Amino acid sequence: MSLLRTKPINADAYCDTGLKRCLNSIDLTLLGIGAIIGAGIFVLTGVAAATKAGPAIVMSYVVAGFACAFTALAYAELAASIGGCGSAYGYAYAGLGELVAWIIGWDLILEYGLATAAVAIGWSGYVNNALTAIGMPLPEILLKPPSEGGVMNLPALGIVLTLAALLSIGVRHSARFNAVMVLVKLMAITVFVAVASFNVQPHNWQPFMPFGWEGVMAGAALIFFAYIGFDAVSTAAEEAIRPQRDLPIGIIASLAVCTIIYIVVAGLLTGIAPYASLNVASPVAESLLQIGHKWAAGLIAAGAIAGLTTVMLVLYYGLTRVFLAMSRDGLLPPLFSTVNKSTHTPVRVILASGVLIASIAGFTPIGKVAELVNIGTLAAFVLVSGGVIILRHTKPDLKRPFRTPFSPLIPLLGIAFCVYLMLSLPAETWWRFWIWMTIGMVVYFAYSRSHSALAR
Ligand code: ALA
Repeated sequence: MSLLRTKPINADAYCDTGLKRCLNSIDLTLLGIGAIIGAGIFVLTGVAAATKAGPAIVMSYVVAGFACAFTALAYAELAASIGGCGSAYGYAYAGLGELVAWIIGWDLILEYGLATAAVAIGWSGYVNNALTAIGMPLPEILLKPPSEGGVMNLPALGIVLTLAALLSIGVRHSARFNAVMVLVKLMAITVFVAVASFNVQPHNWQPFMPFGWEGVMAGAALIFFAYIGFDAVSTAAEEAIRPQRDLPIGIIASLAVCTIIYIVVAGLLTGIAPYASLNVASPVAESLLQIGHKWAAGLIAAGAIAGLTTVMLVLYYGLTRVFLAMSRDGLLPPLFSTVNKSTHTPVRVILASGVLIASIAGFTPIGKVAELVNIGTLAAFVLVSGGVIILRHTKPDLKRPFRTPFSPLIPLLGIAFCVYLMLSLPAETWWRFWIWMTIGMVVYFAYSRSHSALAR
């Protein structure tokens, strides 16, 4: 059956595409941290603590962290044994058939594209805060989309186009830029931890679970956004020097570092300020202002701007790689799979997707975008964990440089945690998700199925 056709697994052949191999395990770990720490910890933690979980937001971070840890092990196995720049999409194509691969690919486009746009809108807010602090605020109409009474969100649109230019020049430049930005944001977080540690008021942690267990889960489903990005490391398979060794390191190390940071920051944040006061645009900086540390608040804001920039960079990078892989397989038009000979980057796909993301960021309100991103990502995570179990049966002899321990227990736990988080998301998010997936099905049956390279 054509829907079940799979691609042969040959990690080396997949990687022969003209992309430059220049990333080592440290670059990949930084790429992961660059993608992970962003709007989730800097913005959504406050919202989730105030409206969903209270101080038990720390538990939300632990629950979402488990879902990601189990999935990260599955990603590491598939990235090392199957490889390719298409991440989960590529793994599904090799193991689960074209239709599942298409569903995951379509899902990843939603994840990376919308997440980049959402973070760009958050970035715009922080940048305007900084401009306001130096007495140069932008006019409101250039900060809001038409549906909120403005003309467009100009900074959000501008940053996406700037990143498009950066990625077009070449990944090495972007990786260096990413490393510097990651250091800036880690320094900002260190400042927060250092200052906050001496200002905790334990009574702020009471009541600990004001919204009960349901609140903890709703919080986890929202702040899951904070973890998104470790999976983007796997899209760099074709630019990794030793992908089979370095991808598992990059995926697992970046997730581990960020999980520890999140739990510490979330605990301190709710310890220095009453949880109900954290529903603001910049809760981490605000909480320091509340206790009178203006200079530290300024540093945090600068770190957040750097942090959000790297998140966009890596997610955007991931998106272009998924497009590249899908178009090379014929599921998307060939326009997207040409690698430019002088820059060694897929310039066309970078620019085309940049215009699209910039339009979404410039003309759409941020609204419930994060939850929509989460449901798409969780669905992909479920399929990745499922893929490990199925491939162990269908392709037992596949060379696996990294093996998920205690399989199938760990992948099954990954599936259970992700499904539980999906069920904790609001019904409207589910509706939007189904609409996106239905459009995907129409595109698949109208175009991709007949243009697929395997079909031809
Ligand atoms: N994890 C990324 C963030 O928090 C998407 O911004």
